[in-house]
Amino acid sequence: MKEASSTEPVGQNLIKLISNVCFSVFVFSVLLFTVIAITYQPSDPWFESSKALTKVFTQVENATFKTDSSIIQTGEDLATLAPAVSPAAAAEVPITTNTIEKSEEKILNSSSTLDCDYTLKQVNCSDPLVLIAIEKFNLKVFKSIVFLGYQTPVNGSKPNECDVAWRFRNKKEKSWRKYRDFRRFRLGIGENCTYEVAKASGWHSGTNAKRPRGKISSSSSRKGKAPRVSSPVRDEEINDTIPTVQSDTAFRKGRYLYYSRGGDYCKGMNHYLWSFLCGLGEAQYLNRTFVMDLSICLAATYNPSNKDDEGKDFRYYFDFEHLKEVASIVEEVEFLRDWKKLDKAHKKKIPVRKVASHKITPMQLRKDKSTIIWRQFDAPEPENYWYRVCEGPAAKYLQRPWHALWKSKRLMNIVSEISGRMDWDFDAVHVVRGEKAQNKELWPHLDSDTAPDVLVEKLKGTIQPWRHLYIATNEPFYNYFDKLRSHYKVHLLDDYKELWGNTSEWYNETKLLTDWHPAEFDGYMRVAVDTEVLYRAKTRVETFYNLTMDCKDGISTC
Ligand SMILES: *[C@@H]1O[C@H](CO)[C@@H](O)[C@H](O)[C@H]1NC(C)=O
Ligand SMILES: *[C@@H]1O[C@H](CO)[C@@H](O)[C@H](O)[C@H]1NC(C)=O
Ligand SMILES: *[C@@H]1O[C@H](CO)[C@@H](O)[C@H](O)[C@H]1NC(C)=O
Ligand SMILES: *[C@@H]1O[C@H](CO)[C@@H](O)[C@H](O)[C@H]1NC(C)=O
Ligand SMILES: *[C@@H]1O[C@H](CO)[C@@H](O)[C@H](O)[C@H]1NC(C)=O
Ligand SMILES: *[C@@H]1O[C@H](CO)[C@@H](O)[C@H](O)[C@H]1NC(C)=O
Ligand SMILES: *[C@@H]1O[C@H](CO)[C@@H](O)[C@H](O)[C@H]1NC(C)=O
Ligand SMILES: *[C@@H]1O[C@H](CO)[C@@H](O)[C@H](O)[C@H]1NC(C)=O
Ligand SMILES: *[C@@H]1O[C@H](CO)[C@@H](O)[C@H](O)[C@H]1NC(C)=O
Ligand SMILES: *[C@@H]1O[C@H](CO)[C@@H](O)[C@H](O)[C@H]1NC(C)=O
Repeated sequence: MKEASSTEPVGQNLIKLISNVCFSVFVFSVLLFTVIAITYQPSDPWFESSKALTKVFTQVENATFKTDSSIIQTGEDLATLAPAVSPAAAAEVPITTNTIEKSEEKILNSSSTLDCDYTLKQVNCSDPLVLIAIEKFNLKVFKSIVFLGYQTPVNGSKPNECDVAWRFRNKKEKSWRKYRDFRRFRLGIGENCTYEVAKASGWHSGTNAKRPRGKISSSSSRKGKAPRVSSPVRDEEINDTIPTVQSDTAFRKGRYLYYSRGGDYCKGMNHYLWSFLCGLGEAQYLNRTFVMDLSICLAATYNPSNKDDEGKDFRYYFDFEHLKEVASIVEEVEFLRDWKKLDKAHKKKIPVRKVASHKITPMQLRKDKSTIIWRQFDAPEPENYWYRVCEGPAAKYLQRPWHALWKSKRLMNIVSEISGRMDWDFDAVHVVRGEKAQNKELWPHLDSDTAPDVLVEKLKGTIQPWRHLYIATNEPFYNYFDKLRSHYKVHLLDDYKELWGNTSEWYNETKLLTDWHPAEFDGYMRVAVDTEVLYRAKTRVETFYNLTMDCKDGISTC
């Protein structure tokens, strides 16, 4: 063997060697890949959110810790996750080039030849080929959009115009929630007598297609859930009614976890979420229904009035419908009413286990068979924070169900509207100023790095002139960014005031929750919308580490 190989020409050996090496590398990489595949666990998609909050909330001895007033990402933002599928949405298949071509082929097959004379004379909006031309156009132009179902086009205002409505989702949003657009298209005749879109008008321009409601032609509306009842002032995609009274026996059979209001009340929103998700996590661990207080106290920092505002509804900010679907919850007022009623009506009281301290762990409660476990949180701060239940050894057992938390569809409709008006073709810059800019000790350069002239210079390097530029900012002075207007088409949240004004859909939708009391578009909503629009930009310039080298959390924290 050795002899033989030594007589082989060097070249052949070399080839052998190379192929051996190559094979080894191949084997090794397959192995490595397999090992990675086996040991790799997808990172907690909410890791960033939870990490940021963990950091803040573990310094608990100080009751008045400072939380950032920033918005944490919620379930629907996070890209690593496959969209959660609602039964109703499961049947709705995104429209792709492939599906369009298939249906086009079908139409062309069934009608023997294209009638050039006919097509040239007039555009017939109900001709399926018109819709196909529009579908193709949309797919080509709006790359960041997933199209989910079109209505049959209707006549526009002129003979060659058609209005058409469709449902869509932005690729940046990972939920199954759908939004609606309707636009006006002018059609022309292209090569081979096919329809072609000659001109498309902007967001919500196809007013004739606006809403003959409940007639969306997608195949899904009949399957899954019962079709939703529509009423003229509503987004029929939103159904966040409070689940209603159960029967007495159902109540007795249920198992509940009830948290009294604790020291978390009127703290920042991130604190609220950290606490609420802890409670919900405990309920899931104990296999119980969580009793949920829908009324939220919004901390003064988010309020223009600079006062705590108790009259807020969870559903202003978060998607209660989604929460209902993925978690077992009852609403507190309903729950207390049923409970009182039952206790009054029967000799035998509902079994309740009262838990006075967070030091009693969820693990100790696991075996408890009481109908209601009632955590009371009466101790002085910070012993009365809900999230303390999840500290210590419990952290190993409880998981905060971040995926249960989505932003309110009411707010997301505004986000969709703003980005839709810019045709989803915009860049954005996040300019953090406010208190941080004034605090020269912790952020020495922030103020000067976000000065108007400096902004112009910095953005010139990254963003093409005359692009739509959305500025997400906490700078209160509207004209602060005027210098950018000679380079970009500048958009600020306040340019869209009418979207939450007293004639808006949002205004109508929120009034449904509050017995027709007008709701205020508060600071938290502003930041939520601002942030979400920012996420939808094509190029995104952040304040920290893009505009300034100051650290996000103050000097020497990065
Ligand atoms: C709490 O805050 C006070 C002053 O605000 C500070 O002196 C103290 O060190 C803080 N405690 C902790 C644990 O951070
Ligand atoms: C259309 O016709 C072609 C040939 O005539 C055939 O190969 C194709 O499968 C047909 N497509 C459909 C969708 O019927
Ligand atoms: C338009 O097209 C539809 C579907 O092909 C057809 O039913 C209708 O008769 C056409 N209308 C006119 C005015 O040609
Ligand atoms: C749409 O317009 C065409 C001609 O442009 C007309 O023949 C047709 O009747 C119109 N359809 C409707 C529903 O108004
Ligand atoms: C028009 O038809 C010709 C021949 O059938 C074909 O080569 C050409 O690609 C077609 N053009 C379009 C835009 O479909
Ligand atoms: C809303 O959802 C509830 C179930 O959570 C259902 O009973 C009710 O009929 C729905 N209402 C509408 C208007 O779809
Ligand atoms: C959770 O509780 C329900 C009834 O309260 C019971 O039917 C179910 O089997 C329990 N599931 C687990 C995993 O313990
Ligand atoms: C909306 O607000 C404006 C000014 O704040 C007021 O003049 C108008 O009457 C209000 N409209 C409605 C329908 O409440
Ligand atoms: C809001 O509701 C009023 C009636 O309550 C209605 O006239 C108005 O068109 C609605 N606005 C929107 C944008 O839906
Ligand atoms: C902003 O900074 C991040 C991280 O340093 C970098 O990856 C990104 O490309 C920067 N964005 C722009 C628009 O410069």
